[in-house]
Amino acid sequence: MRTPVQLGGLTVSSIGYGCMALTGIYGGGLTDDDAREQLHKAIDAGITLLDTADVYGDPRPGHEGPAGTNEDMLAPLLAERRDDVQISTKFGITGEQVDPETGRIEAGRIAGRLDYVRAACEASLRRLGVEAIDLYYLHRPDLTVPIEETVGAMAELAQQGKVRHLGLSEVTVDELRRAHATHPISALQSEWSLWSRDVEARIVPACAELGIGFVSYSPLGRGFLTGTLTKEAAAADIRGATERMGAGWDANARALALVASVAGELGASNSQVALAWLFAKGAQYGAATVPIPGSRRASRMIENLGAAGLVLTDDQMRRLDTVAGLVTGARNLYADNADWTTENRE
Ligand SMILES: NC(=O)c1ccc[n+]([C@@H]2O[C@H](COP(=O)([O-])OP(=O)(O)OC[C@H]3O[C@@H](n4cnc5c(N)ncnc54)[C@H](OP(=O)(O)O)[C@@H]3O)[C@@H](O)[C@H]2O)c1
Repeated sequence: MRTPVQLGGLTVSSIGYGCMALTGIYGGGLTDDDAREQLHKAIDAGITLLDTADVYGDPRPGHEGPAGTNEDMLAPLLAERRDDVQISTKFGITGEQVDPETGRIEAGRIAGRLDYVRAACEASLRRLGVEAIDLYYLHRPDLTVPIEETVGAMAELAQQGKVRHLGLSEVTVDELRRAHATHPISALQSEWSLWSRDVEARIVPACAELGIGFVSYSPLGRGFLTGTLTKEAAAADIRGATERMGAGWDANARALALVASVAGELGASNSQVALAWLFAKGAQYGAATVPIPGSRRASRMIENLGAAGLVLTDDQMRRLDTVAGLVTGARNLYADNADWTTENRE
C-alpha cells in the first residue's frame, strides 16, 4: 500500500475505487447489496477514495435527468463508514441520450449554469445522505457557459460547507487556469493510461505547476489493458461501439501483448503493470497522481493495490512508453462528439 496522496489539500488513498460499473455499463452491474459488499472489503484493504457521479447507474423508469442510482447505492455504506472514506461525485451531464431511431447511446447533454449547479448539488447530497461532499467535480464543461460562472457556483457551495474541495473533468489547460483563478481546484480528472496519453502534452504539466492532483480515470483502458476482457464481452456493451474495442480490437492486440510481456517478466498482472506505470509517470511529471480503476470484484481491486510494490526498470518503462503508439482508434467513446474529451479541444 502506497502512502496517502494529497489532492490539493484532500488526503486520499493512493488508488481510488471507481464506482461507475458497480451499477452497470460494462457487462451488467451488481445488486446494491453486492456492490456495497465489494466496497466494504476494498475500504478494509485501504482504498478510501470512492468516485461516483450523479449520472452513473440506470435511470429509474420515467426518470428525467441524471440517474442518481449509483449515489443511491452508496448512501447506506456512507451512513456506516462516513469517516473512513472520501466521497467524490460529479455533476454536469444531464442524463443518458438515446437516439430514438437507432437506439444508440449518445453523449449526454451538459449543463453548467448557476441554478443547475445549485440544484445538482442538493440532489447529490440528498441521494448520498451526507452533509458535505469531499470532492465535487464538474463532469464536463458546458461550452455555452463561461467556466468562471460554473466554478463560481461551485465556490458558493464550498463557502456554504456543502462541498469541501472542487474538481474538474475533461477540461483544457486554459479552462483549468481560469477555473483555478476563480477558486482553488484540488483535482483534475481525465483519462490517462498506457494507451491514452494526450494529457501528458499540456494538462499533466499544468497540474504539476499549479499543485492540482491528477485523478486518472479508466486507468486500465476500460478493461482492455487487463487482458481479461474478451472481444465478445466488449461487443455486448458500450465498449464494442468504440473505435478501440470495436473495429480496432484485433489491431490493438499488439499493444496488449507488450503489456503482458512486461507483466510476465515481473510475475505481476497486466493491471498492476498499468497502474505502476501511471505511478511512475506521475512522479516523472511531479504531479500527485491517483488512479481510480473500477471492478465488480473487491479481490481485483485488492490485486490492483499490489501495483504499489512493483518497480519497473528503465527498460520496461521505455517499452511500455511505446504501447500508445501501437494503438488504433481514439480514446473518445463518442466518435461523433469531438468535444466530449479534451484531445480535440486542447
Ligand atoms: N470523469 C469521467 O468522465 C469518467 C469517465 C469514465 C470513468 N470514470 C471513472 O473512472 C472509473 C474507472 O474507469 P473505468 O471503469 O471506465 O475503467 P477501468 O478502471 O480502466 O477498467 C475497468 C474494467 O477493468 C476490469 N478490472 C479492474 N481491475 C481488474 C483486475 N485487477 N483484473 C482484471 N480486470 C480488472 C473491470 O472488470 P470487472 O468489473 O469484471 O472486474 C472493469 O470492467 C469509473 O468507475 C469512474 O468512476 C470517469
